[in-house]
Amino acid sequence: MTEDLINKKDIYFPSYLGTNDNLITLLNRATQILCDWFSKAEKFGPLPLDENFKCLMPHEEGNSEEDLFSEIESLLNNSFNPVHPGSLAHLDPPPLIFSILGDLIAAGLNNNLLAYELSPSVTLLEESLCKWFAKKIGFNDLSGGIAASGGTLSNLNALIAARNNAGLATNPNSLLLVSEDAHSSFVKCIRVMGLDTTNLVRIKTDNQGRMDIKDLRKSLDKCTVENKKIFAIVATLGTTVRGAIDPIKEISEICKERNIWLHIDGSIGGIFAVTSIPIKGLNNINQANSITINPQKIIGITKTSSLLLVSNMSTLENTFNTGLPYISSKENIINRGEIGIQGSRPAEVIKLWLGFRFLGLNGIENILKSSIKRKDFFIKNISKNKFDIYSGPLHIVSFIPKKLEPEDSDTWTQTKVNELINNNFMLSRPKFKGRYFLRVVMGNYNTKESHIEELLRLLDA
Ligand SMILES: Cc1ncc(COP(=O)(O)O)c(C=O)c1O
Repeated sequence: MTEDLINKKDIYFPSYLGTNDNLITLLNRATQILCDWFSKAEKFGPLPLDENFKCLMPHEEGNSEEDLFSEIESLLNNSFNPVHPGSLAHLDPPPLIFSILGDLIAAGLNNNLLAYELSPSVTLLEESLCKWFAKKIGFNDLSGGIAASGGTLSNLNALIAARNNAGLATNPNSLLLVSEDAHSSFVKCIRVMGLDTTNLVRIKTDNQGRMDIKDLRKSLDKCTVENKKIFAIVATLGTTVRGAIDPIKEISEICKERNIWLHIDGSIGGIFAVTSIPIKGLNNINQANSITINPQKIIGITKTSSLLLVSNMSTLENTFNTGLPYISSKENIINRGEIGIQGSRPAEVIKLWLGFRFLGLNGIENILKSSIKRKDFFIKNISKNKFDIYSGPLHIVSFIPKKLEPEDSDTWTQTKVNELINNNFMLSRPKFKGRYFLRVVMGNYNTKESHIEELLRLLDA
């Protein structure tokens, strides 16, 4: 069949003949709709809530382009909008423009990081970029890493490797030590690894939200007495609720003394380590065996984008290698489906690479510094007589009115969140140590001091 006999509706895939006019028209139209949506943010706010929003399901016959574009518009108009300056609830900043392009290119490429033969250039790109990151944080030549779809999976990859490395892969009594403020992904990791919550030992935190070293030592001694084996200790570099940083130096010394794998969950704060921004407590991270860095959370690499960096790549190879019998391999090149839990994986590294190449280290520093500056401005101006404030060296602040009874915190935060969203500010309300807090995450580059002043005025009212 010649090209001109093909019905437009039959063009399901890109043509290999250089005639992709239809795709170009569709991409242009989609781009226009997306950009219109960005600029509609001002009007609709961070979280437009239309209870009547309907998702239509596929019919016998495919729908027209017109139908689809109108459905895309409706989907966008009912979506959380991260570019709105009042979007301050979570670790979901506006998307970097070169990362948006990266996602488009990755989708079109449709290469697969499972194997070198399915993604030759992107395999080399991911390997090189992981190595670059690993070197930046101070690891040596044996180091490297693997991308994964989110911080949870990077943490999981690390812990499976840690347990395997400790010779405890099948030991049902093996333990993981984390602080009581560590992220909930560790609960999932433990379950996925066939363990239960008794295998997850929670170490107390101090009044700054950092792991309490005395309590850590006490727990370790107890484990020794009870002959319980520990496969890893996790230090959190930026806790979810208040951005605290565990004492990495002390924890790394303890891990060295006792030959225990140190994993750093740097999902929030790890990215600061590639810059020279002075962050209190961010030191000695190259003493870890593994570290999660999740650039989707603060500098706007589009979701998902997470890296696990390891000090020694052989730990990942020994843990995950299966031989991948249906795929050929090339000498000296690792099939990247063989060094992590995921098999097929998109070329997500492209948006990270393009984002970083576009920003350069100065651009990255600029974005990170601006988030700290907004946090400082917020803390400087919030009424200290009215609120108790919980915050660490990063860009997250949780707060609660002084003297509010714990049982009243649910209603107060819910009322306040509703009131704020009606004024186009979206904050979150984490439950933390038995009560609810309001939390503001200052990772939104579009938020200016005037917006923060307005937010503070609303909080004070
Ligand atoms: C400290 C920390 N670790 C891990 C995660 C999990 O990351 P993800 O949601 O990308 O899986 C989060 C998520 O917010 C986090 O705050």
